[in-house]
Amino acid sequence: MKLKGKLLLFGALALASAFGINEAISQEAGQAISEEDLALYKTGINPGEVFAQEVGGKLFNTPMGKSNKSCASCHSEEKLKKAVGTYPKYNEKLNAVISLQQRIQMCQKLNQGVENPFPLKSEENTALLTYLKYIASGEKINVDTSSNPVVKEYYDYGKYVFELKRGKRNLSCQTCHEYFKKRAVSSCCNSRTVFNS
Ligand code: HEC
Ligand code: HEC
Repeated sequence: MKLKGKLLLFGALALASAFGINEAISQEAGQAISEEDLALYKTGINPGEVFAQEVGGKLFNTPMGKSNKSCASCHSEEKLKKAVGTYPKYNEKLNAVISLQQRIQMCQKLNQGVENPFPLKSEENTALLTYLKYIASGEKINVDTSSNPVVKEYYDYGKYVFELKRGKRNLSCQTCHEYFKKRAVSSCCNSRTVFNS
């Protein structure tokens, strides 16, 4: 599976829908996605799900590093999936809020004994992230802003940025993702899911 194709596809879809260029979607998608993935997509199978299971799931079960242990050697999926929605999360040892991607790196380094953990944004780190999010489908998103003042600071700053109007179109994230959520937005963006969430 080619990750690049999927990221480009998402980019193309978001761009096309944001500008209402509906006709361009299938054409753009055809260019950005491999033939193989496009065929899957057309039969109703989400190539992202296949990526999560086949690439991420495989890495999750592969022993690595000095410990020669896999993620699965130490973690039951039943327990781990409950932790996924608690990220970003405060880490006491680091006295910082860390992302799930960083937590994956920490486990590789500290618990698996991997010398050089997969870099952030690498295909492998993203695949593990995708797998963790995939097994956590339907679980609660549960970031605890009261766990430490640092978390609350990040939350407040995130809210500020979310509401901040910027760019040539003077739009905030909120403009599209909250304000319009109860209105018909098809005229604006041809969105399928985000305004219902
Ligand atoms: C040798 C055992 C071991 C291995 C192998 C291991 N981990 Fe961990 N993992 C731990 C321990 C110990 C913790 C810390 C638990 C805590 O902080 O409560 C942890 C914590 C985590 C957490 C955070 C859980 C939480 O409640 O916040 C995630 C996510 C995670 N590991 C994912 C992974 C992934 C993905 C891999 C494979 C790349 C992996 N782990 C490999 C032992 C391991
Ligand atoms: C011009 C309107 C617009 C603005 C401004 C905007 N978005 Fe979006 N966003 C969209 C559309 C349209 C989608 C795609 C929805 C879909 O495919 O269902 C989307 C998708 C997303 C998704 C993925 C949702 C999903 O269900 O997969 C996230 C997360 C997101 N946006 C966050 C943000 C953030 C954070 C900002 C501000 C930095 C922002 N958006 C600004 C219109 C917008």
